[in-house]
Amino acid sequence: KPKKRWGFLRTLWRITYISLLGGAGYMAYTIYDLKHPNEQFEPDPSKKTLVVLGSGWGSIALLKKLDTENYNVIVVSPRNFFLFTPLLPSCTTGYIEHRSIMEPIRNILRHKKAAVKYYEAEATKIDYKNKKVTIRDDSDVKGDNMETQVDFDMLVVGVGAENATFGIPGVREHSCFLKEVGDAQKIRKKIMDCVETALFKDQSEDEVKRLLHMVVVGGGPTGVEFAGELQDFFQQDLLKWMPQIKDNFRVTLVEALPNVLPMFSKQLIDYTESSFKEEHIDIRTKTMVKNVTDKTIEAQITLPDGTKKIETIPYGLLVWATGNAVRSVVKDLMGQIPAQKDERRGLKVNEYLVVKGTENIWAVGDCAIANYAPTAQVAAQEGAFLARLFNTMAKTDVIETELQELSEKQATAKADDRNQILNEITERQRQLRRTKQVGPFQYSHQGSLAYIGAEKAVADVSWFTGNIASGGTMTYLFWKSAYLSMCFSSRNRILVMMDWMKSRIFGRDVSRE
Ligand code: FAD
Ligand code: NAI
Repeated sequence: KPKKRWGFLRTLWRITYISLLGGAGYMAYTIYDLKHPNEQFEPDPSKKTLVVLGSGWGSIALLKKLDTENYNVIVVSPRNFFLFTPLLPSCTTGYIEHRSIMEPIRNILRHKKAAVKYYEAEATKIDYKNKKVTIRDDSDVKGDNMETQVDFDMLVVGVGAENATFGIPGVREHSCFLKEVGDAQKIRKKIMDCVETALFKDQSEDEVKRLLHMVVVGGGPTGVEFAGELQDFFQQDLLKWMPQIKDNFRVTLVEALPNVLPMFSKQLIDYTESSFKEEHIDIRTKTMVKNVTDKTIEAQITLPDGTKKIETIPYGLLVWATGNAVRSVVKDLMGQIPAQKDERRGLKVNEYLVVKGTENIWAVGDCAIANYAPTAQVAAQEGAFLARLFNTMAKTDVIETELQELSEKQATAKADDRNQILNEITERQRQLRRTKQVGPFQYSHQGSLAYIGAEKAVADVSWFTGNIASGGTMTYLFWKSAYLSMCFSSRNRILVMMDWMKSRIFGRDVSRE
């Protein structure tokens, strides 16, 4: 009997040993590969120029899968990195450091077979008729030339969206958004500034209450995830270092609709709302913000009897997360295309993601209107679809040229050779038919996930048999592992894991800078 037990342990040890060795080998290979890109070749200048605008989910998914040797690829984006947005709310409290979820675009492009040009610039105008994009360097350091034009044969617009403010006065001046790395850094600094200012000597009680009132407007997933992260920061770290703030630190989530997280099932909405109650996060539904000043928001509240009243709510930190609006460069393009004139939400695309009313412009992600929610999941699938489509189009072009050459050869060939050429033509035609079989874009929804604080998450996940709705700590572990596996690179994965560990062991860093 003891012999058998040792035998089992030995087998277990061998499996663990081999898996660890395999894991370490894989990691070593990915690190080596990352640091030692192969030589790149310059693409053929006679090929078509494909310009890609943006370095977000849609554009990067396209670039990852695109065979760059088939086109002259030019990428234009003011952000020289890809940002893994699902973990951005964690950066606002320092649970994760922002650089851990950024992947430099140079790393991504340097690993392509054929060189890709990248310009750190904003596209300010797309001239549809003349096939030109005006680009401007908006960074802090500018050279003598700050603005120029790029010609395109094919254009992919993946510029995302900007923050919706609905023209509400004071929003842009006084609130923080949560879309970019800079936004998360600004919030992190402001949280600590509010706390330290509240602890300033002889601060009045009303002022302390105001400064420690953290208001989040918008009960979509961005607002909910941020509110959860902020309350965690308070419970797990701030309270330990500054117990004096215990009675006055409050997080309030303001939502115009009757409930938060409208894209989740009723069961998960109820679960989130009750969990927020337990965590002492105040949810104010049916409350629409109408005006913002430097210290207060004015909101219209719909009472249970249907009457409305205006309430003024003082705040120290205001985070505005009320969804997406169309970027000006996209609005301008829409104005040039008659088929886009009635659309307000973004570029209408067909089932191949071609911008309606054009032949050589495609749109992906939040700036495209394809009847899907503006999520990373949709943007990434659209980008990958376009890569397949473009790779196929390039192959098709090659086969069509070969067919043309064979037909010409056949016309002048001797009778003996004609049969052989005819066979080759038939084979190429068959190849062409097979290659052209790219169906329209079909979105496959994997589910929705959101962190709700206190180490709980909610998930509406698609499964073979239908949808599974779950919420709680196990879902949080699933959320963590799902997003860890989705990080762009092994480097990102290691950095995120180290940040999680560091915050667990030492707590979040509460320095203001
Ligand atoms: P983006 O990723 O926003 O990229 C746009 C790119 O265009 C950027 O590189 C930008 O710099 C560039 N750009 C902007 N203007 C110009 C210009 N004029 N010229 C050239 N380039 C320009 N979705 C999920 O599915 N799951 C999640 O968990 C999730 N969490 C999120 C958390 C937060 C905090 C936020 C803000 C969003 C989250 N989303 C999530 C939504 C998701 O991030 C977006 O749907 C996704 O980023 C859209 O991809 P995109 O490529 O269209 O745009
Ligand atoms: P959203 O559009 O999902 O939600 C914005 C909310 O703000 C709405 O519920 C709206 O009713 C409310 N609102 C608007 N104006 C208001 C006002 N004046 N006063 C009070 N409330 C007001 O926006 P969000 O959360 O920024 O998300 C944008 C997109 O990104 C969505 O498609 C979302 O699905 C996606 N996303 C997904 C995440 C996830 O899957 N975990 C996380 C974050 C974003």
